[in-house]
Amino acid sequence: MTLIAPSILSADFGRLAEEVKHAEQAGADMIHIDVMDGCFVPNITIGPLIVEAVKKATMLPLDVHLMIIQPEKYIEDFVKAGADILTVHVEACPHLHRTVWQIKESGIRVGVSLNPATSLSSIEEIIHDIDLILIMSVNPGFGGQKFIPSTLDKINRAKKMILSNKLQTVIEVDGGVKLENAKKIVQAGADILVMGSAFFKQKDYKKFMKQLRKELYG
Ligand code: DX5
Ligand code: ZN
Repeated sequence: MTLIAPSILSADFGRLAEEVKHAEQAGADMIHIDVMDGCFVPNITIGPLIVEAVKKATMLPLDVHLMIIQPEKYIEDFVKAGADILTVHVEACPHLHRTVWQIKESGIRVGVSLNPATSLSSIEEIIHDIDLILIMSVNPGFGGQKFIPSTLDKINRAKKMILSNKLQTVIEVDGGVKLENAKKIVQAGADILVMGSAFFKQKDYKKFMKQLRKELYG
């Protein structure tokens, strides 16, 4: 089954706890939290304090996407704040193996993310060590951008890489995922769909989740 991870980047921050609770009640599988530092990406968002607040508002796993340079400095803080999955960008980690193991040794799941222009070969040597590959289908930094079509082929190749290595690694896709393209993305090999604007711009989250399940499973 495909898991749905609403990204709170498009939620109403003034009512964040309520928004997260509503997403949970609507049947979301995890909460995606976008951490941006204004350096790795041209936007500044959330830190460990907000992660801690979200943790108190929901039982769902927190999927924390670090779009920051030197993520190794903040791993402990995000683990303490309640992250269940911590994902770092390959482009931000010169010592990716060390960073990945630092996260694993803290007892939570680890993901590695690739920007649209980053080749899958950059994770070839680390794929056995990671739980999740986060494939960016937009250039990270903002919600509401358009899905880059060539990502579909990249997802497909990532799936083949996982299968040929007989691994359980899951593929998460982030950026421009909508009701209209969700099925294609899943058919290409995605296990988790991040949805920011497509989810939080809805009036009725429950109704949207129903439509989405119908779109995916008929
Ligand atoms: C983009 C973030 C995404 C963002 C997706 O840099 O990593 O998680 O919230 O937003 P949508 O679904 O609106 O493209
Ligand atoms: Zn994200």
